[in-house]
Amino acid sequence: MIRLSAITPSGHVQLGNYLGAVRRWAREGTEQDVYFISDLHAMTTSHNPSGLRSLTREQLAVLVAAGVDPHSVCVQSDLVRELGALTWLLECTCTYGEAARMIQFKEKAAGRDSVRLSLLTYPVLMAADILLQGAHEVPVGEDQTQHVELARALAKRFNGAYGDVFTVPRAVTPPTAARVRDLSDPTRKMDKSAKDAAGVVFLLDPPDLVRRKIGRAVTDSSGEVRYAPDAQPGVANLLEVLAACTGGSPRDLAGEIGGYAELKSLVAEAVVEELRPVRERTQELLADPAELDRVRAEGAVRARERSTHRLNAALKVAGLS
Ligand code: AQP
Repeated sequence: MIRLSAITPSGHVQLGNYLGAVRRWAREGTEQDVYFISDLHAMTTSHNPSGLRSLTREQLAVLVAAGVDPHSVCVQSDLVRELGALTWLLECTCTYGEAARMIQFKEKAAGRDSVRLSLLTYPVLMAADILLQGAHEVPVGEDQTQHVELARALAKRFNGAYGDVFTVPRAVTPPTAARVRDLSDPTRKMDKSAKDAAGVVFLLDPPDLVRRKIGRAVTDSSGEVRYAPDAQPGVANLLEVLAACTGGSPRDLAGEIGGYAELKSLVAEAVVEELRPVRERTQELLADPAELDRVRAEGAVRARERSTHRLNAALKVAGLS
């Protein structure tokens, strides 16, 4: 069984990415799985080439430092030729209407005079990511389910029209997906490309900065530590982060804490300790470019080895070779 997930180098890895995704990949992933840095997806909006390169390296280092099996890790653009070829086959399988119906496209394009064509077509590239690797399951949040459904529809249509080449993937919702919210505005999710970084804890933030950001987290004026996500979203967010770091349930933890100052101090220490080993190992890896290059090159070879036969089969049945 192959599971496939990705992280986009659109910013520095934040606490939500770690607790909601990367830590799970490390704990539950196997070497059959594919966890990749989706640098091609980071180009659907205006991007800076050297920034993209360095964020890609940083995210690769974070995945390895967090304990994701290096056999399952790769960088998307190392397969750019294979993905480019498969994307074309799938674009010739997909309709304009299907692509234009994607909610993410509508949301991201809304109110802009001009958007990159890739913002419309990137779900087809995502389908190529999934189908090239023969993934069975794609764990995603609700916002990405529609894209996996598109990959599913394209796999079935291609198989039906030309021959049985692709595994038909399915979207799965991770059972305990922590949804970390922005500390300054707990109605929004924590986001690596947020305009204001005050409410975002980055994995590489030094401990003192983490403490300061958590110390300034928005709570409310009731002064009561209760787990009530609708009425007290800021407090609930802090309790959820604490539970994700230390174990236990947010509701039970609430009963043991006397006030907001104690809550913030517990959360700050728990987060600092949770991130410390990953941050330190990431820094070591970033200081050892040869090791990171080696992991990346081996990941690319493995990802290519497992997928080239599928691309060749698809090209052949489509009449191209
Ligand atoms: N706040 C979050 N809480 C829990 N999980 C989260 N993820 C992201 N934010 C949170 C999960 O991290 C993985 C990688 O995310 P992504 O790079 O695909 O992009 P995203 O979901 O759009 O994450 P960001 O940080 O919000 O990035 P930008 O700024 O690019 O939009 C996914 O599994 C995601 O669910």
